[in-house]
Amino acid sequence: MATHDNSFHSETFNARLLQEFYDSYDEELEMELDDLRFNDNGEPQQEGDKAFRRRYFRELLHLQGELVKLQDWVMRTGHRVVILFEGRDAAGKGGVIKRITQRLNPRTCRVAALPAPNDREKTQWYFQRYIAHLPAAGEIVMFDRSWYNRAGVERVMGFCNEAEVEEFYRSVPEFEKMLTRSGIQIIKYWFSITDEEQELRFLSRIHDPLKQWKLSPMDLESRRRWEDYTEAKEEMLERTHIPEAPWWVVQGVDKKRARLNCISHLLQQVPYEESESKTIMLPTRERHEDYRRAPV
Ligand code: ADP
Ligand code: AMP
Ligand code: MLT
Repeated sequence: MATHDNSFHSETFNARLLQEFYDSYDEELEMELDDLRFNDNGEPQQEGDKAFRRRYFRELLHLQGELVKLQDWVMRTGHRVVILFEGRDAAGKGGVIKRITQRLNPRTCRVAALPAPNDREKTQWYFQRYIAHLPAAGEIVMFDRSWYNRAGVERVMGFCNEAEVEEFYRSVPEFEKMLTRSGIQIIKYWFSITDEEQELRFLSRIHDPLKQWKLSPMDLESRRRWEDYTEAKEEMLERTHIPEAPWWVVQGVDKKRARLNCISHLLQQVPYEESESKTIMLPTRERHEDYRRAPV
């Protein structure tokens, strides 16, 4: 806005421009509305929550601004980044991914959230369908769940056998080393929540029509198999924590802090530098008056 010489515009235009600016922030606020109704304990908001919320929102905006710089750097240098988000159901992976992508270019920063494998994919090499989503130069790909499904949900729910799990554990360090050797940076996050917190979030999904879609039969079954998931997770973190691609555990019970922590940690993992910002001038458009106006 500041770099565009709009001194010749009318006051109405300038007021409209300001309105546009506020509107775009309203959208962001709407996204946070969900959190505004209740505090983190699920109680109606208290007066004291407001200050924290304001700080949270300000900090989130700041981090998102840094993500834009990171994005510029990735595009400029042709860097390739893969970020894996793993964790129990309702741990908050989706929420942090949304806030990372919120202000970024969807071509530069993509999300891969693969559904269960189809019949054809089931006959392929296990990693094959994931490979199709790996980044080209200047891209960041975030996996909302990843090849680690084999060590988690597939194992615990019995969608694969123990021999396949063992083969996965043999392959995965090699696989990730190959990727990093080729120049892809891999960042792996495990979102950790407590038993009580998962129960609370599932209950809130059951009662909120806007959230029910998030609740799958798989999720309900995962409550029953909490202990199996715990064992599977511990083995996974232990056997796949390699220097080339270490695991980072995000404490997820406090959703907002988890988001801020995860994003600021992510920013520290990529050695981005700010580029010289250049002045952008908006060209005036050529006038073609011979089009028909649609009635509005
Ligand atoms: P999410 O929690 O990611 O919203 P779900 O809870 O429905 O989704 O499923 C969890 C994961 O289990 C997903 O990554 C899904 O692809 C996987 N999954 C579901 N059914 C199968 C299956 N039959 N075989 C392998 N993976 C499956
Ligand atoms: P259950 O719910 O007890 O019937 O377990 C379901 C499946 O989870 C079993 O078939 C186990 O193979 C698998 N499973 C989960 N965690 C582990 C683990 N740490 N070691 C071996 N098998 C596991
Ligand atoms: C989450 O909130 O952790 C995820 O988006 C996955 C889920 O639906 O459980």
